[in-house]
Amino acid sequence: MAHADKPFDLTRYLRTSNAAVNHALKRFLPSAATAPSTLHKAMRYSLFAGGKRMRPALLLAAAEACGGSVVNALPAACAVECIHTYSLIHDDLPSMDNDDLRRGKPTNHKVYGEGIAILAGDALLTQAFEILTHSKATQRYSHRELVLELSRASGSLQLIAGQVADLEGEGKKLSLSKLLYIHKRKTSALLCSASRLGGMSANCTPTQLRALTDFGYHIGLAFQVIDDILDVTQTSEKLGKTAGKDIAAQKATYPSIVGIEKSRQIAAQLTANAFAALKPFKGKATALEALAQLLLHRDN
Ligand code: IPE
Ligand code: IPE
Ligand code: MG
Ligand code: MG
Ligand code: MG
Repeated sequence: MAHADKPFDLTRYLRTSNAAVNHALKRFLPSAATAPSTLHKAMRYSLFAGGKRMRPALLLAAAEACGGSVVNALPAACAVECIHTYSLIHDDLPSMDNDDLRRGKPTNHKVYGEGIAILAGDALLTQAFEILTHSKATQRYSHRELVLELSRASGSLQLIAGQVADLEGEGKKLSLSKLLYIHKRKTSALLCSASRLGGMSANCTPTQLRALTDFGYHIGLAFQVIDDILDVTQTSEKLGKTAGKDIAAQKATYPSIVGIEKSRQIAAQLTANAFAALKPFKGKATALEALAQLLLHRDN
């Protein structure tokens, strides 16, 4: 939370971090004119459609909390955003959530067709690891550890496992523990990894890495609970994606299992747990605290 004597300007912080991330992403990605140009256009279409860039912001804030620099954290921040964007392109496909709207625009497959959308997702996933190689290894964390970190979070035991269980859970009445299994993997794993990679880019201590893991895990769980709440309470215009889709697709969500009010309490508790995890930073993780607050109170 912002300190009373010196309020933290999160709007300004996000403006700066988003500008740095967007600038770096533009440089890391092949230009739209590069052959095969349809593919590169499709990759850029979703990447620059206007996402909130919350994962890169968390990564940069985690680096900062550990005394690191934006420059050293930027490749990992861009890599995480590429993985996230690929996961959204595939999540929206007709064979998955079948969504027509994303980031306020028609979904990738609506514009480029399913084949190119699948390939743009594939290419962004691969691009992420190429971008990650631009990170500097630190004394404690080698390139191998950085690659292992991101591949595990986005692989078949985490993000993809969550997406599998999400699909297989459609139309079923799931227990809360099964829903937690899904949220841990499809959403929290990558947010947690963003937090950890920020620390790793800053050569964080083992104590700091544990704190960032705990923080990212809880913020990641809260993120999906809020996403599920917003699907019920907000308009498509506000969300930039079709509201009400979870009920239509008979997805298991916190609101569908415990109701909106209880879901809000759960999100607040998870955020409180995330705050508590930041204790080792002794008040020096101001940007992370402000981001956690924003994520809890966001309306899109
Ligand atoms: C949406 O993520 C997908 C989830 C994991 C819930 P965001 O809400 O961060 O989407 P963008 O990046 O702002 O479009
Ligand atoms: C998306 O979850 C999770 C991933 C893409 C890994 P959702 O399906 O709830 O995300 P939205 O609501 O489409 O953004
Ligand atoms: Mg989905
Ligand atoms: Mg979806
Ligand atoms: Mg959703």
